[in-house]
Amino acid sequence: MSAVNSKKLYIRTIGCQMNVYDTERMAMLLSRLRYRRTDRLESADLIVVNTCAIRAKAEQKVFSFLGRLARLKQNNPGLIIAAGGCVAQQEGARMLERAPYLDVVFGTHAIGRLARIIERVEKEKCRIVDIDMSAGVEEFDTIRNFRDDGQVTSFVTIMQGCDNYCTYCVVPHVRGPEASRHPEKIVAEIKDLVRSGIREVTLLGQNVNSYGQKEGWCDFAALLQQINRIDGLLRIRFTTSHPKDLSPELCRAFKNLDKLCHHIHLPVQSGSNRVLQRMNRKYTREQYLDKIEQLRSNCPDIAITSDFIIGFPGERQADFDQTLALIRQVAFDGIFAFKYSDRPSAPARQFQPKLPKELKNERLQILLDIQDEITLGRNQSLVGTVQQVLVEGHSKRNVKNDIDLSPNSLQWTGRTSTNKIVNFLLDGSSAKDSPAGALVRVEIEKALAHSLWGRPTGVDTTPTYLKGERSYAA
Ligand code: SAH
Ligand code: SF4
Ligand code: F3S
Repeated sequence: MSAVNSKKLYIRTIGCQMNVYDTERMAMLLSRLRYRRTDRLESADLIVVNTCAIRAKAEQKVFSFLGRLARLKQNNPGLIIAAGGCVAQQEGARMLERAPYLDVVFGTHAIGRLARIIERVEKEKCRIVDIDMSAGVEEFDTIRNFRDDGQVTSFVTIMQGCDNYCTYCVVPHVRGPEASRHPEKIVAEIKDLVRSGIREVTLLGQNVNSYGQKEGWCDFAALLQQINRIDGLLRIRFTTSHPKDLSPELCRAFKNLDKLCHHIHLPVQSGSNRVLQRMNRKYTREQYLDKIEQLRSNCPDIAITSDFIIGFPGERQADFDQTLALIRQVAFDGIFAFKYSDRPSAPARQFQPKLPKELKNERLQILLDIQDEITLGRNQSLVGTVQQVLVEGHSKRNVKNDIDLSPNSLQWTGRTSTNKIVNFLLDGSSAKDSPAGALVRVEIEKALAHSLWGRPTGVDTTPTYLKGERSYAA
């Protein structure tokens, strides 16, 4: 493809990993119309913003980004601006009113139609809204996911939508009902990814534990077994798991499947049964703790992370205390905590009483301070151990922290099976002789708040680029 013929595409992604995956699909589909990605907003012929509606803040981010584009459109009337994803699905034509220079609004099920939509806008200079959700899951399989960007890890969406209707959540309304992709299509996609250099996949779904249940082909544990057999793939991760559907088979998979990483993200949202019920989470605190026990008895070193919503309508001090007690009892490896945010289509919008902003901030801070200490403690317990790290690339910044950085060595970064970031130096390595894609053994020397620092002691597999020709003497 000559550079002269190609057009420039800028994509801004807001939101979860599913949006990151969808962005890749959009870029791939648009490459058929000769669009190549650029990092420079000013040089784009087409700007796509992939939006998120999970909290009011995410939505504000979308409109403030769109606001910045008005001037670009004035200077370049040929510029096409499109909004996709969850806010697009939620707002539809209303978005065209709020952002008068927007050309296209396409919903979460319209990605397979995006190239046709853009082609029409190019030819007819019209404005298009497509938020039809009837396409189903087939449209996923219209593309193959090849990568040529030197990445080691990739997301693979295995299901779309959600049927759980937690009372605070917009996702079932903007992503539609739950539907799983066929296991053969998923396995084929991962094999393609492995051929293009990917060593680790993260399987994505709003609730991967109910994978395939509706369709009746195989359950999630059986899907993992199939993926575990793919040659050349080193690691499997997945997210997100709903506690109510976490099966004993899945707990056992952590013991039985060698490629399955020892980490689970298991959002609990609250430690209070009263709040859990009002959230429609369909499990109790006791059932959640029992699942944690099952996971740890199968896989003692498993890292467990979680999500919390702080200040759900009607959350009392006693409820919040229960959440803090749960955090201490489980000793999570890390958490995400969000202040409750009203969503227009979610029923909790009607729930009372709403908590004042200050109280939500105060509770959030208390919770985060407690967790910071726990996270550091969990990280410190790894000092002195040897961890297998899948190298992803250079570290973005040098973590000096009284560690002497030799000017001749690059600082590399990767993750442990338990999803902890490890930075280390590798003598003799350079950007050209990159260890990316290799499993390196690293002795952990220091625990920081959000990462570990270590010293390599050996290499278990060769990096992607070496293809087995040599290996590092670490
Ligand atoms: N499907 C996943 C979560 C997807 S949304 C699951 O069920 O775990 C990611 C996180 O955003 C949720 O776990 C929840 O903690 C948070 N979240 C969702 N809706 C929210 C809202 N209205 N206000 C604040 N946080 C919210
Ligand atoms: Fe939202 Fe609940 Fe579905 Fe997760 S399980 S996406 S929180 S409705
Ligand atoms: Fe946001 Fe949609 Fe994901 S609302 S969190 S981008 S599913």
